Amino acid sequence: MSPSLESVRSNAAVEYPRNQEHVQLLFDDPGCCGMSIRGLEIYAKKKRILSVPEIRLPKTGVVAVMGPSGSGKSTLLKAISQLMDENLRYEGAVLINKQGVDDDRQEVSACSHFAMVWQKPTVFPCSIWDNLKIPLRKRKVERKEWRGMMEEALEKTGLLGELDGEWWRQRANRLSGGQQQRLSIAMGLLKDSHIFLFDEPTSALDPISTEKVEQIMCDLGESRLVLLVTHSLGQARRVSQYGAMIHNFGEYGELGEFSPTEDLFARPASPKSREFIMRETGVPQAVVAGN
Ligand SMILES: Nc1ncnc2c1ncn2[C@@H]1O[C@H](COP(=O)(O)OP(=O)(O)O)[C@@H](O)[C@H]1O
Ligand SMILES: [Mg+2]
Repeated sequence: MSPSLESVRSNAAVEYPRNQEHVQLLFDDPGCCGMSIRGLEIYAKKKRILSVPEIRLPKTGVVAVMGPSGSGKSTLLKAISQLMDENLRYEGAVLINKQGVDDDRQEVSACSHFAMVWQKPTVFPCSIWDNLKIPLRKRKVERKEWRGMMEEALEKTGLLGELDGEWWRQRANRLSGGQQQRLSIAMGLLKDSHIFLFDEPTSALDPISTEKVEQIMCDLGESRLVLLVTHSLGQARRVSQYGAMIHNFGEYGELGEFSPTEDLFARPASPKSREFIMRETGVPQAVVAGN
């Protein structure tokens, strides 16, 4: 049985000895919170590399995660999605709100709730059909439903109109980089994930592909929680409603600020955020906010 919120709260500082045990499903605050992270600390041997004291994320919307290179942004997404490095030690808790997820799914492991899109496309070197059937098979969807569901996911990601009539035969790894990223998103839709994690998904894409992926992330944020790690502050402002800033404290990164994106740019609460925004944009934040 899942622990109660109170028991997890009081155990936030307890060390979880085995990987993956820090991510838990439970009923959290009804109504507002989709995921909360409490006292998450990640260590490589004795060296702390990331600290997230407390953050509560909404059920829907896009949250941009920003911060200097090496501050721990990718490590945070990996910790949330349970794709964790074996040599790292994880303490604290990532709590996912199960509310709104149907009864069958509540028994499924936490990772089925996440879809992850990396900087480099990660499709399998086989046909589009064989890629898309993986999540459907895992969910035990009847075969006769597959084609309709796949076409709906390809339509939502703008791929259907771009592919040949016999799209199912096309090899996924021969698609352009931007199309492969959108195919990964289609796989997440077929997995029925309600939390999407993007790690700099457009950093290798041209402006037109970037625009398409940004539009899809905006669409996803209307009904799901999207965490977007991005180097582009312009992208954060175009796509996200909330911003989270990871600050670098020399040896380790700490999630230091979380607020509505516009507030973060217009009135950063911490000097480190202000410094980062100034450095990245070259202009004082008051001007950035007025753009
Ligand atoms: N498996 C690991 N073992 C040791 N150190 C790691 C490991 N993964 C990441 N780190 C360290 O953690 C810090 C944050 O890395 P990362 O999350 O990749 O940063 P970012 O994505 O913000 O650029 C870096 O100093 C990196 O060297
Ligand atoms: Mg990274």
